[in-house]
Amino acid sequence: MIICGIESTCDETSVGLVKNGRYVLSNVIASSSLMHEKYGGVVPEVAARDQVKVIIPVLSEALGSNLTKVDAFAVANGPGLVGSLLIGVESAKTLSIILDKPLIAVNHLIGHIYASWLATDKSGYSLKLLPKGFPSFPIVALVVSGGHTDLLLVKDHEDFKWLGGTLDDATGEAFDKVARILGLKYPGGPEIEKLASTYRGQFANSKLPSPMIDSDDFDFSFSGLKTAVFNLTSRSKKIQKAEIAFAFQDAVAKVLVKKSLMAAAMFNAKSIVVGGGVAANQYLKSVFTRESDKRGIKCYFPDAKFAVDNGAMIAAAAYFNRNFVNPLKLSANSSLHF
Ligand code: KG4
Ligand code: ZN
Repeated sequence: MIICGIESTCDETSVGLVKNGRYVLSNVIASSSLMHEKYGGVVPEVAARDQVKVIIPVLSEALGSNLTKVDAFAVANGPGLVGSLLIGVESAKTLSIILDKPLIAVNHLIGHIYASWLATDKSGYSLKLLPKGFPSFPIVALVVSGGHTDLLLVKDHEDFKWLGGTLDDATGEAFDKVARILGLKYPGGPEIEKLASTYRGQFANSKLPSPMIDSDDFDFSFSGLKTAVFNLTSRSKKIQKAEIAFAFQDAVAKVLVKKSLMAAAMFNAKSIVVGGGVAANQYLKSVFTRESDKRGIKCYFPDAKFAVDNGAMIAAAAYFNRNFVNPLKLSANSSLHF
């Protein structure tokens, strides 16, 4: 079964073709992040205007000559920016009606979880690749993106239970704001990771806190950490920016790992799946992998190109979670929850 997944919840416009929820036949991503770099963040109106222009070229590049082979269309109908969402949702509805193919609605955040089901290899997208194995249930899933930080228990496909989330800033948002404090460009995550990797000093005890690390719940908070970075940079002129970037990244990793492992222990999870733009962070991946290996839990991170918003992950989520909808009735929902 080939599903065409459409994603336009934030500043990316992406279409992916995925066979049987796993094999990526194509995945085209257009991003307006260069425009947002100028403003230090996503400007919704600017993003949506750009997406209107690129949706048809992105669709036609991803579909190539495969339009007639598509069995169903899938679209992320929320959460996200309302103007951006409309572009993907209306395009998917139109294609579904005209080609008389089923339409599946996907929660964007669930899409991030399913990025770990996608198969790829170094040379591109391979149908011949031997399956590396699916994450096994029960799963503890952590979604860390620019707008969200959520921890979920996934007992099976179509069975998601929200355990907790951020009380203030999302993880990616904290990366973006800290990057701005350090004078780095938007999006801040990759910039902080790059700068942190140049830090060569001794790193014993963090100069920064991991907020809520000892709280008895599955919630997070990052705004105090961001303030601590601000205070540290303005108080101590001598401290290297690379050390601050490293300490920040480490403080974030510690709390994300601690709460995910706490949930995994409580619910006897067999795997931990991390998704969302922040899952592209290799330091986070190394801490997660090391700590879950110690406890015999398998940890899955998506390939970096599937960590950011993309259509293939929406197609994969749709294959395993068949939320069929009437294309005449589907609407974008900017505050869609689990
Ligand atoms: O999932 P995503 O592409 O879009 C949303 O749904 O929000 O996530 C974007 C976020 C941004 O905040 C960006 O700074 C962060 O993901 N990000 C990273 C890295 N790459 C992207 N954060 C940390 N390390 C990275 N390498
Ligand atoms: Zn996202």
